[in-house]
Amino acid sequence: MPPVLEIRDVAKRFGDRSTGGLRDINLTLARGETLALVGASGSGKTTLARLVMRLSTPDRGSIRLSGHDLTASRGEALRLLRPKFQMVFQDPLAAFNPRANVRRILEDPLRLHGLVPKEEYDAAIAAMLERVGLNAELMQRYPLELSGGQRQRVAIARAIATKPDLIVLDEPVSALDVSIRAQILNLLLDLQEETGVAYLFISHDLAVVRAIADHMIVLDEGHIVERGLTETVLAAPQAEATKILIEAVPKLKVWA
Ligand SMILES: Nc1ncnc2c1ncn2[C@@H]1O[C@H](COP(=O)(O)OP(=O)(O)OP(=O)(O)O)[C@@H](O)[C@H]1O
Ligand SMILES: [Mg+2]
Repeated sequence: MPPVLEIRDVAKRFGDRSTGGLRDINLTLARGETLALVGASGSGKTTLARLVMRLSTPDRGSIRLSGHDLTASRGEALRLLRPKFQMVFQDPLAAFNPRANVRRILEDPLRLHGLVPKEEYDAAIAAMLERVGLNAELMQRYPLELSGGQRQRVAIARAIATKPDLIVLDEPVSALDVSIRAQILNLLLDLQEETGVAYLFISHDLAVVRAIADHMIVLDEGHIVERGLTETVLAAPQAEATKILIEAVPKLKVWA
């Protein structure tokens, strides 16, 4: 089976600026695994996430999703591929229509991708909520009436509805309290075990990365400066950028 995500020689520049963008990006993510993408602010993490989600296109190189060439797909081919990759953002409020209640938010993927017949929407949405640990009664609420953790659970419910091969999560727990953070990470781990979904998990928090990711990649000024098993990289960082990230988390130094 082809990897869920395969990026070859990808580069991206913004206009003719010499800063920002990405170069020489190569990575592979296997089914059911989690790859963390870490790096300082401005290192290019979100730029890479947007390329994978095809919210922008690379200047060169190829991005393959479960064997399909994403960079070459458009129109109908891209539409058919869409449900296979999903994204969860740091702030789901920004990603939700504030005038749609939870029922409506979760109905979207069911309708767009024809997942269940209309008369089964309510039961399907209740099941989606229960799957992420939420009471089905929350269906009537609006995003602003939910806690940060509840909102992120709804975002995850929406993302897994289409049975994706890959979910790209851009700082999904950074805005949450520490106790809620652990609950959401556990939910993600449980869902991965159940479904075999792969995560490309963006975070600048190495404690979170250690809890969730098998492998990690460190970005610095748009290129990959270090990669490997999370435990190995954290125990014996080689790149200066990695060392700086580790220094920023006092606890990690003690554990290492
Ligand atoms: N559309 C754009 N036009 C011009 N420059 C951009 C654009 N998007 C990103 N950049 C630049 O590319 C670099 C990487 O930005 P990116 O958002 O990928 O960083 P990041 O690693 O996600 O940072 P953070 O941790 O703060 O979210 C930055 O220097 C940014 O200013
Ligand atoms: Mg970012």
